[in-house]
Amino acid sequence: MSIISNCTATAIKDAAVSLIKGDLVAFPTETVYGLGANATNKDAIARIYKVKGRPVGHPLIVHISSIVNLDKWAREIPEYAANLARAFWPGPMTLILPRTDLAKDFITGSQDNVGIRIPSHTVALELLKEFESYGGLGVAAPSANRFGAVSPTTATAVDIELSDYLSGADQILDGGPCLVGVESTIINCTQDQPSILRPGAVTKEMIEDNLGITIELNDSNSESIQIKAAGLLDSHYAPNAKVFLTGSPTLGDGFMALDSFTTPNGMIRIASPKTNEEYAQVLYKAFRFADSKGLKNIFVIPPIGGGIATAITDRLIRAACKIN
Ligand code: TXA
Ligand code: MG
Repeated sequence: MSIISNCTATAIKDAAVSLIKGDLVAFPTETVYGLGANATNKDAIARIYKVKGRPVGHPLIVHISSIVNLDKWAREIPEYAANLARAFWPGPMTLILPRTDLAKDFITGSQDNVGIRIPSHTVALELLKEFESYGGLGVAAPSANRFGAVSPTTATAVDIELSDYLSGADQILDGGPCLVGVESTIINCTQDQPSILRPGAVTKEMIEDNLGITIELNDSNSESIQIKAAGLLDSHYAPNAKVFLTGSPTLGDGFMALDSFTTPNGMIRIASPKTNEEYAQVLYKAFRFADSKGLKNIFVIPPIGGGIATAITDRLIRAACKIN
């Protein structure tokens, strides 16, 4: 496996060729780093599951470069979904739509729908455009971490997570730290009304403003939709350290909160974001830092308010659910 630190046009072209050949390419997006493979190549997709240690049957998001390619993957696009696509793509949003025959069971976990995203990171977009110029139709990319672990927001974090599992021809493109820091908003667009399955930087408020309707957050438990989403399991996005949102800390425990909160005596500050946006950006980096220091416990004061705070709190609650 090689890490490409200078993502020149030539390097991106090489990476696109690798994807076409069936190799894996980890690449930066504005949310987190993804582990990419040709979405129409069954063997390459099987390698994603192996490298991540992800149970088969959990669906993957297909990344494309342009809205023009959407109907290759989605057979029905409700008007509200088209509006969202126009408003928020390229960007940190994934739409779940009824699939076409191109979206095989090995991508969708045998569901009749497919997750699609157009990322805005320049390296990701250039890679997708090159890949499509060689005849590729989409790049499946889960977050580039081992199953259940914290998503990587730098190329170094991808290297630490996956280098033992990647092979010689695979690559990691280094596009710097991710600006958003938490995974894309996932919106279920298979019903009359959209609903949010995973909150992210395209917030409930932004979606409601755009569509002029009220939408539901997280109806993943509803039995009327059989949507499987690994990131929606109760325990996920977790560091090795135990994450606590309540309780009493002891000496030497990690502490994360907005900058306006002072560090309690004897605790180790792992992040001091000044805004909720910065909180999202540094969240996973802080978890990784805590693990690198061997901290056993992390006490967190979640941000308050709606917007991106909803996504941060969602990830914190799931991280705190981990049973060690
Ligand atoms: O920001 C992101 O979305 C990143 C970057 C790399 O694009 N990707 C990402 O992928 O977070 P992943 O696989 O780590 O998380 C995607 C979530 C999973 O929980 C998966 O089960 C769900 O999306 N998902 C994918 N396709 C789906 C589908 N057709 N129906 C329901 N959930 C789906
Ligand atoms: Mg993930």
